[in-house]
Amino acid sequence: MAVYALTSASGSPGVTATALGLALEWPNQVLLVDADPVGGSAILAGYYRGTVAHPGTLVELWSAHRQGGLEAAVRELALRLSETASLIPGPAGAAQAGGLADLWPALAAQLRVLSQLGVDVLIDLGRLGHTHFATPLARAADELLLVMRSDLPAVAAVAAAEVPLEAPVRGLLIGPNRPYTAHAVASVIKREVSVSLPWAPEEAAVLSHGQPEPKRGLKLRKALRQAAEELHTTSITALGVSA
Ligand SMILES: Nc1ncnc2c1ncn2[C@@H]1O[C@H](COP(=O)(O)OP(=O)(O)OP(=O)(O)O)[C@@H](O)[C@H]1O
Ligand SMILES: [Mg+2]
Repeated sequence: MAVYALTSASGSPGVTATALGLALEWPNQVLLVDADPVGGSAILAGYYRGTVAHPGTLVELWSAHRQGGLEAAVRELALRLSETASLIPGPAGAAQAGGLADLWPALAAQLRVLSQLGVDVLIDLGRLGHTHFATPLARAADELLLVMRSDLPAVAAVAAAEVPLEAPVRGLLIGPNRPYTAHAVASVIKREVSVSLPWAPEEAAVLSHGQPEPKRGLKLRKALRQAAEELHTTSITALGVSA
């Protein structure tokens, strides 16, 4: 199985909504880690609208790590999102994130172990370039998915972004043809755009703000399911990761 890390170069293109949507549609056991140093419990406050009590966040993982209990804590503190998906919520804010620096390498190793045990891992890294960006988690990823929209400022920011990693980096395009096609974007950013998700604000608001699901369409959900299946399949085949 594989570790996929999602990040962005500018704006708020939809990293968290996409990571959550992929986790909810993932065809296998999957752990979503919210490692965005900006914090603010985007998923608990957004998708769950503050209605769910959670057993712990990365901060409790950090304490467990200090006491030598990281492996068990990852299992015990994860909040169940569905039958197959669970979530480790992120820090409350940048100050807390700054204190997590010594957790990242140990957690990175733990996530790699989980992927070898058959669990896929998705990491929301927040934006590239943040002071407390979790570089060790990014380095642990088999692939980095650079989430972006298709307008010129977004494409220009991705083209200019420095990605301090050796892992393969692919584009994940939200709203192709608004106005640039995936093909045009790929040629400008000089990276493959391997996932395209439709522009679907109402459906996205289910994931980002806990809005009720629209009654029809569900084109984003279908595309997320297809993307999740492709990424999971890639994790078994192209990445050469053992199933
Ligand atoms: N496929 C989509 N179509 C339309 N709107 C989307 C889509 N995906 C996400 N959005 C919207 O984009 C906005 C930002 O989403 P989200 O919070 O996931 O972005 P982010 O990249 O994680 O931002 P930040 O860097 O601030 O954490 C939200 O209003 C969300 O509903
Ligand atoms: Mg986010």
